[in-house]
Amino acid sequence: MTDEPVIEVEDLWLSRKGEVILEGINLRVLQGDFFAIIGPNGGGKTTLLKVILGLIPPDRGTIRILGGLPGDKRHLLGYVPQLRTFDFNYPLSVREMVLSGLLGRKTGIFKTFNDADYRLADKALSTMGVAHLADRTIRNLSGGEQQRVVIARALVGDPKVLLLDEPTVFVDTPTETQFYDILGNLARSMTIVLVTHDIGVIISHVTKVACLNHRLYTHDSKELTEDMIQGAYKCPVDIIAHGHPHRVLRQHPPEE
Ligand SMILES: Nc1ncnc2c1ncn2[C@@H]1O[C@H](COP(=O)(O)OP(=O)(O)O)[C@@H](O)[C@H]1O
Ligand SMILES: [Mg+2]
Repeated sequence: MTDEPVIEVEDLWLSRKGEVILEGINLRVLQGDFFAIIGPNGGGKTTLLKVILGLIPPDRGTIRILGGLPGDKRHLLGYVPQLRTFDFNYPLSVREMVLSGLLGRKTGIFKTFNDADYRLADKALSTMGVAHLADRTIRNLSGGEQQRVVIARALVGDPKVLLLDEPTVFVDTPTETQFYDILGNLARSMTIVLVTHDIGVIISHVTKVACLNHRLYTHDSKELTEDMIQGAYKCPVDIIAHGHPHRVLRQHPPEE
């Protein structure tokens, strides 16, 4: 792993309907980082991912993905949107769902999959520990299984970076550790950026953490300081009420 930046965001601003959603964001994600961005709902996490993906143009600022423009480097980014954006009632098998992650690369009117594509899909499912579900219908999976399948779908095109939006919402606690172990393993061979409102996800595999609430509070390390949390959440009580106050706090809040 080198220190090559895979994502560089400089002085990024974005407003919607007169409200500033992203305010002067500077972010550098290096190759091999497992970067967690936490922040309250409505803080702009999903919007920031979409800007990085080139899906939403910013009002101001620059974004570079492996030295290029987001639109040109889109194939290097694997995106796992929030689970609720998928329609799991659609009659699709798990394997077909994963193969759909390759559709963006297919040209022509008839988009068909070949043996190599099927092998890629099965490999991605194995990576996520759900190869045995390949022939099941997506509708019949648990939330945690669906989450793994949509990550496999993002991995099928062999991206350099995986961007995950709220990956643990539907993962129940007993399987959560296992889920993070899989992400931790993935992080050895790729760069991961994970956004979440759940401070509980800040686990041992994460190498860097930042807080986002319109502004990004970061200091380029794994430590989550009180300043960052206060800045992003305004009130540390939010965090304490969440039930995971101690994990990464450098100092305990005075209330403790
Ligand atoms: N397309 C849009 N038009 C107007 N406002 C939007 C749009 N998308 C997001 N927002 C607003 O931007 C803010 C940040 O939203 P979002 O990025 O979804 O936050 P998060 O993912 O942190 O919960 C919210 O106030 C939301 O209402
Ligand atoms: Mg969101």
